[in-house]
Amino acid sequence: MMEKSIYFAGGCFWGTQHFFTQVNGVKSAVCGYANGHKDNPSYEEVYTDTTGFAETVHVCYNPARVSLETLTELFFCIIDPLSLNRQGHDEGTRYRTGIYYTDAEDRPVIEKVYAREEAKAGVPLVVELEPLQNFFPAEERHQDYLDKNPDGYCHLPLKTFRYVKLYQDTQLILADEPDPIARMAEMAALIQERMGFFWTGFYRVVADELVLGPFQGPSACLRIGYGKGVCGSAWKQNRTLVVPDVEEFPGHIACSSLSQSEIVVPVRKDGTVTAVLDIDSRELATFDATDALWLEKMVSIL
Ligand code: SME
Repeated sequence: MMEKSIYFAGGCFWGTQHFFTQVNGVKSAVCGYANGHKDNPSYEEVYTDTTGFAETVHVCYNPARVSLETLTELFFCIIDPLSLNRQGHDEGTRYRTGIYYTDAEDRPVIEKVYAREEAKAGVPLVVELEPLQNFFPAEERHQDYLDKNPDGYCHLPLKTFRYVKLYQDTQLILADEPDPIARMAEMAALIQERMGFFWTGFYRVVADELVLGPFQGPSACLRIGYGKGVCGSAWKQNRTLVVPDVEEFPGHIACSSLSQSEIVVPVRKDGTVTAVLDIDSRELATFDATDALWLEKMVSIL
């Protein structure tokens, strides 16, 4: 079977490795040190931040199952590409971000994704894109660190790992289903079941209103006007709205008094909003930028 390699530096390698082991088509992900000045560095040497190494994960994948483009897109979901030598709480050149390739033909593929991310950001990214100079696997205690230490430190929000599985499984499950209502129904069920939210569902744009679509959870309002509530506002503003406390959102429509926080993500076709994905939580401040990022990826499947 064919096998290819790519090297991702995404801050602390414990989290980056754990993320890529969740990706379908990835055969192995190994923590190590890349593009430094000596041979066989130890963690302690790299930690001094004087060796030039970046904490890096060697991802070995089957290109028949996952493309380099997909892997690169997923990598951008777990880094802040504008943060120089810092990811989460970890700071130093060893925590810089980078994509290092061993096959020159991979470069244009990565550049394409890079350019899209740069266009989204509107400013130059600080992520390195370079040939791999060298790579030394890290000590055994750093391999599969988060499997060995489930409560161990991770600079990534832990829900990232559930979202990446949910996203890939949903893609596979919906792959052969053309019916838009069936797709929404299945997606609502998958999100609700995997993430354990209070209410997950769709409102579809029908003429000048949002009309209730497939959902999971207690009975809900049937229709919402343009610009009304969180759903109608997300439609009008054509952007994701994260509401940490529904009481603080002017015009919030309380379908259930149990809902305390909410996220609404527009579903678009050719840039026009055709529906919204609405998710409610019984707790305050459940949703943040991580949910927004992954739920936007989810609705892009539709
Ligand atoms: N709270 C939403 C209404 C829909 S329910 O949450 C299911 C809103 O303000 O638009």
